[in-house]
Amino acid sequence: MITVDRKAPKALHRQIYDAYRTTIVDGRLRPGQRLPSSRILASELSISRFPVLNAYNQLLAEGYFESRVGAGTIVSRSLPDQPIASAATGAKRASALSGPRPVSRRSSILPPFERATWLQGWGAFGVGQVACDQFPLQIWSYLVARRSRNMDAKSFHYGESTGSMVLRETIASYLRTARALHCEAEQVAIVSGSQQALEISARLLLDPGSAVWMEEPGYSLARDVFVLTGCHLVPVPVDNEGLDVAAGIKRHRKARAAFVTPSHQFPLGVTMSASRRFQLLDWAQNTGSWIIEDDYDSEYRYESLPIPSLQGLDASARVLYIGTFSKVLFPSLRLGYVVVPLDLVDRFLSIRRAMDIGPPTFFQDVLADFISEGHFARHVRRMRVLYRERRSVLADCISNELGSRVEVLGGEAGMHLTVALPNGSRDVEIAKNAARQNLWIWPLSPSYLGKVSRPGFILGFGSTAVVDIPPAVRKLHRLLGAK
Ligand SMILES: Cc1ncc(COP(=O)(O)O)c(C=O)c1O
Repeated sequence: MITVDRKAPKALHRQIYDAYRTTIVDGRLRPGQRLPSSRILASELSISRFPVLNAYNQLLAEGYFESRVGAGTIVSRSLPDQPIASAATGAKRASALSGPRPVSRRSSILPPFERATWLQGWGAFGVGQVACDQFPLQIWSYLVARRSRNMDAKSFHYGESTGSMVLRETIASYLRTARALHCEAEQVAIVSGSQQALEISARLLLDPGSAVWMEEPGYSLARDVFVLTGCHLVPVPVDNEGLDVAAGIKRHRKARAAFVTPSHQFPLGVTMSASRRFQLLDWAQNTGSWIIEDDYDSEYRYESLPIPSLQGLDASARVLYIGTFSKVLFPSLRLGYVVVPLDLVDRFLSIRRAMDIGPPTFFQDVLADFISEGHFARHVRRMRVLYRERRSVLADCISNELGSRVEVLGGEAGMHLTVALPNGSRDVEIAKNAARQNLWIWPLSPSYLGKVSRPGFILGFGSTAVVDIPPAVRKLHRLLGAK
C-alpha cells in the first residue's frame, strides 16, 4: 500500500509517514493490524532504512503505531475501530457512486442477500447442524497431521478438475454398494458440496428459459441456482409418494429437467415410492429430459434399510446424482460429488474448469484416508444410533406436548423432521420469535414457490442432545401459544 517517489520534492520519510497516516485515518489499516518491519519495508521500497525508521518513530510518537514485544509494530489498538475519517470518506464514496455502475441483469434476479433470523444461531433444532461433539476429531486431526507431514512438490501443484482419483474410486465403490448406483470412478466428479454440483449441472443442462420441475415445497437453495440460470421453474406438488409426476406432466410435459430428493424429500421427508420412480424415469426417457437427484442425507435411515438411489434404476443414463459430506461428516468440509452420465463427463469438466479449475486437494486426500481406513463407516454407524435416539425422543416429546395440534412428517430418515401447522399459521413470524429464544426452527413457508399449502416448521435434531429436547419442545409449545 505504501509507495514512494524518489524524484518528488517531499522527503522520503514524510512520504512514508503521510501514506501510513492516510491509510489508518480512512480505515484501510485497522487497529491491531501488523505492519512490516522497517527493514522489510525499506527493502521492498528499495531505499535505505533511515527514512523508514524516521517515519515509524514519528507514527509511534503520535500514537498511530504501537510497538509490541515479540509481535513487531502494529497499528495502535487504542485507535477507534471505525475509520477515523468515516464521515469524510463516506461523503467521498457517495460521490464516487454517482456515475453509471452497470451490473448484470442476473445479479438482481435474486433478492438482496439477507440472513434469515432462523439461519443465524447455534442452538436447539438448527437445520443442517450435525453432532460436532461426536465427530472423531482426534482421528481426523491425526490424518490431517499425517498428510501435512508427507506433503511433497506434487501436493502444491494444481489438482485434477475431476478431483483426486483415489477419492473418486473410493466414492464410486461406496456408492455401488451402499446406494446401488451404476457408476465408475471416471463418472464421479468431486465438488465443493451439493451447491456447486447444482451450479455446474445447471450450466451443463439448462438454458435461459428452460423449464425445470421443482418439488413443491422444495429446497430453496436449489431453486436459487435455477433462477439464476434464467430457468422457468415449474412447481410440482409433493404428496405422500413424493413428486406427483402426473401433475408435472400436466403442468409442463416438456420440461428440460426435474430436481428431486427421492430418498428423503426436502423438506417434507417423504420417500418417493417405487411406482413414482418408474414414472419419473419413463417421463425423462420419453421427453428427453434430465433428472437431478439430490441424495443429501440418505445414509441415515431409521425404520428400514437405506432406499436405493433413483440413479440405480435408470436404464437410459438420464440421472445426474448428487451427494455430499455435509450431513454425514460436517458442512464446513465443503466436499460433495456428482455422478455424471458418461457422455456428459467432458462437458461437465470443461464447465467446472472454467469455474474454479478444480477442488482443493488437501482435504480430499484426508477424506480418502478417513474412508479407506474404516473411520467413515464406523462414524456413520455410531451416528445412526445417536440420531435415531434423538429423533424418537423429539417425536415423542412433540406428540406429548403438542398432541393433535400439529402433524409430524418424515422422521424416517436424515437429521430433521417436519411439523405441519394448521392452515393460516404464521410460521415465519413464529420462527423469528423462536430465534430470539435460541430455538432455530425453519419455517416451511419459504420452501414454497407458489401458494403455501401447509405452514409449519423444519426441526433439525442433529445437534440437539437428548436432554435438551424436552425443554426445547416446551419452549416451542409456549411460542405456538399453549392452550
Ligand atoms: C436438500 C439439501 N440438499 C443438499 C444439502 C447440502 O448442501 P451442501 O452439500 O452444499 O452443504 C442440504 C443441506 O441442508 C439440503 O437440505
